[in-house]
Order: sequence, then C-alpha cells, then structure tokens
Amino acid sequence: AAHVNYNFNIVNANIAPDGFTRAAVLVNGIFPGTLIEANKDDILHITTNNQLVNPTMRRSTTIHWHGLFQFRTASEDGPAGVNQCPIAPGHSYTYDIPLNGQPGTFWYHSHLSSQYVDGLRGVLVVRDPVDPHLSLYDVDDASTVISLGDWYHKAAPGIQEVYLRGNHEPVPDCGTINGVGRYVGGPAVPRARINVVQGQRYRFRVVNLSAYGQFTFSIEGHSLTVIEVDGINHVPKTVDGFEIYAGQRYSVVVHANQPIRNYWVRAPMELQHHSDNDNLDEENNYAVLHYAGAPSGEPTTRARDGVDNLLREHELAPLENPGAPGGSAPADRVIDLSFTRSTNNNQLKWTINGIQYHSPTVPTLLNIIANGATVESDFTTPEHTFVLNHNEIIELVIHGSANGHVHPFHLHGHAFDIVQGNSGPSNYVNPPRRDVVGVKGSTVIIRFKADNPGPWFLHCHIDWHLEAGLAVVFAEAPNEQRTGPQSQIIKQEWLDLCPIYNALP
Ligand code: C2O
Repeated sequence: AAHVNYNFNIVNANIAPDGFTRAAVLVNGIFPGTLIEANKDDILHITTNNQLVNPTMRRSTTIHWHGLFQFRTASEDGPAGVNQCPIAPGHSYTYDIPLNGQPGTFWYHSHLSSQYVDGLRGVLVVRDPVDPHLSLYDVDDASTVISLGDWYHKAAPGIQEVYLRGNHEPVPDCGTINGVGRYVGGPAVPRARINVVQGQRYRFRVVNLSAYGQFTFSIEGHSLTVIEVDGINHVPKTVDGFEIYAGQRYSVVVHANQPIRNYWVRAPMELQHHSDNDNLDEENNYAVLHYAGAPSGEPTTRARDGVDNLLREHELAPLENPGAPGGSAPADRVIDLSFTRSTNNNQLKWTINGIQYHSPTVPTLLNIIANGATVESDFTTPEHTFVLNHNEIIELVIHGSANGHVHPFHLHGHAFDIVQGNSGPSNYVNPPRRDVVGVKGSTVIIRFKADNPGPWFLHCHIDWHLEAGLAVVFAEAPNEQRTGPQSQIIKQEWLDLCPIYNALP
C-alpha cells in the first residue's frame, strides 16, 4: 500500500466561475477543489488546514469523501454531528483513509451545514491497475474527469435561511462544467473544453457535484458506454445520454471515431420546480469536445438536439457479484421510510416518519465510542437514529413523495442494490448497485448488508432538504464498533476536535 498525501488549505477567496465575482469557500483556492487521484490499495492522508476567515459563510469545516466505504474508519467519513466535530478555524485535521481495494469515481465535499454550496467540493478518482474494463478504453486521466455543478451568486447561509422560512428551493444562477458556466445575462465565459485525439477511446468520469441541480448528459455524435456507476463496475451499456442527480457518478467510454471537428458536450441543468427552469438557458451548460486538429472555438453545428436513447437505471447490472444481499428471501429487517415537507409559522421542515433530523451536539460516533450508546434509546429522538444489527440484511422501503420531485437519497458507508427502482420490475438477481438513488413519486426499495460497523448518514442529497431535516442515521453494529474484531482505532486528533470546537466563542 502506498501512502498518498494531499494538503488541503481551506480558504476564502474570490472567484468568478461564470464571470460574476463572489467570495467562496475553496480547497486550495480553486473550484472545483484539487483533484484527488489514487490507486485502490493506497492509503490517503489529506491534511485539512482550516484557514477560513470570512464571517458571512461558515468558518468551521468538515470534509466527506462521498462513496468511500470507510471500513473501520468511520471517524474519517466527515459529516458533522454524525462522524466528527467540525474542524475549528485556525485548526487542522488529517483524514487518514485506507482505500481497502475500493476503486471508482468519487467526490468530496464539505459536510457541515450547506457549506459545500459555497464551493468546497471536488472529484476523487481511485484507479484499479487490474480494472476488468481496462481493455475498453485507452485514456483515463485528469483530462477525462467531467464535473457538473450548480453555482449561486449569493452565499449559502443567507439563501438557506430564506428557504427555511418556507420558500421554495434557492435557484442556482448557473450550472458549471469543470468549474465554468454562464448565467443568463452574463458574459460569454469560454466554455470548458475536453480534448480528444481521433481514434482514441476515453473513459470520461462524469460527476454531479451539485447541491440541487440535476443534468442530462450527452455528447453530440457520440454514444456513451456506461461501465461504472457510483464506484461500482457495471456490465457495459451503450446509450446516447443519461440523467445524473446530485451526488451521482458515471464512467462512460467514448470512442473518438468521428470526423475531426468540435462537438457539443451537453449537460443542461434541470431543477425540481419547472418554473425555475425558465431562468436557465440550456445552452449555457454546454462544453466543447475538441478533436486535435480541429479549429479552436465552438462547434458550428446546431446546439440543441433531443437525446433518443437515455439510460434507464433498471437496465444496469453489476459486473461483479451481482445479486441483492439475501437474494429474494425476506430481509432480516425491513425499514419503511416516508418523508414529508411541511411549513408551520414560517418554518419549513422535511421529516422522515414524522421526525425532522437535527444534528446532535455530541456526534453519533462519539456517543457510541465514549458513552457506550448501543440501543436506540441511547440516542436522542431528534437525531432519528436506527440501530442495525451486525451482518443483517437490511431492506429500506422509501416511499416517494407525491409532488413528483426527485429526491436523490444517498447512503454513507455502503453501496446498495436497487431491488425496486422508480421504474421497471423488481429485481433481486442482478439489480443496479450504487450509492445515490433518485426517488420520485413511487416506492423505491434498496438492500444492503450491515457489515460495516459505524454510524452512517442516509439523506436527500439536495442540500437544502438535508438542512431542513430530510435524513436519518444508521448506527450500524455499535457494539462491534466499540469492542469487536472490527473495532476501529480512534485517533487522539479526532477526539481533540470536539473540545476545540466546543470552546469556540
Ligand atoms: Cu455526498 Cu452525506 O453526502
């Protein structure tokens, strides 16, 4: 195992991804933040120096490594109030993460309040030297990462407050591709350019870093062969495009086998309230696929075009070890989750089974480790914590909300099998496996095995919804975590975070 070190200075700086200058919260001063690249057996050490000073945005911080399982390292997962206390301004913390052979396309983001909306987000790629799909592509490097994001001109704390008073979700000013975008009425910022050489086959890693926006991704004149979904290899599936929700990732193989010119990379952003889409111009979220030898500049072809053959999630099948845990036999534990939005006295909240999630002051993991919390009554109700028994097969029945919005639910610590998706038949034989599933109007059923002791968040990845309480925590095998063979070493540096944070004025 190689040790791979990164230094993250978390700073306030002014940036203008779409030509509009604003103060932001950034990793090493850039948006998206520094790309992390490693191999699947490496151990990551990410030293995070909190240098935040701007009082109009959050000044403490934490970072979540979205999709990494964190086996025996739940202390490094990031969510404030679940897995750690925040890193106070002026302080540092080093995240130590053995990758344990887990390859794939991941990302990282602040997991403190809505801080990632202000910029603290980036891509994390873990390569596999013996990737079973290796023969399908020639190029997979930093130039083949395509990040999609949403961007706001106003700082997150202020717009979050307006939302929580009972308004609808804050509307992003623009979408971004690889950190650049255009807003309606703004300057014609040069579009992101993705360079290819004719004849080569590229593994594009498409990542949705958004807090809210979803995208429909396609490339003019090229088909996309999906090989990886949220870090899990899938049987290759060729489509013309796909929808991608907040937090999701796809690796697609694109063969640059077309005549030398420029082609549109289209990723129009869509929002839940259709009226809000009127404020966006779909062509603002286009990039350029540039063949070596073509003139620089934009394609001369018509930009807008329909996408015929969109990916249907239920047609995806994992490449390795397909099959839901437990097969079609009943799960050991079935948990029904129903969520609702309500407003009362100008207070907006989202609840699951009637309970709005509130972040506790003692992080769930500290409660387990230091206080010996092991049963549900050891956790205060507002946290809404379910205790899962070690190695049980868990089935989550997530009842969609009738208003037709898509809620991208993300589970920490696991990938899960989607045995009943938004469409298609139920499937226990080779269902798609991923870590973010869009839940629409119908019931979605997912399965996983509780084989990873630790407290894990399950939440809607629309950050405004999470902030309004659309979350639960699974305290998975707490006894095992404290004293069993799968217990983890708790670092003094981690324990020190809480007294330092709690001493903040
Ligand atoms: Cu991508 Cu709980 O997060």
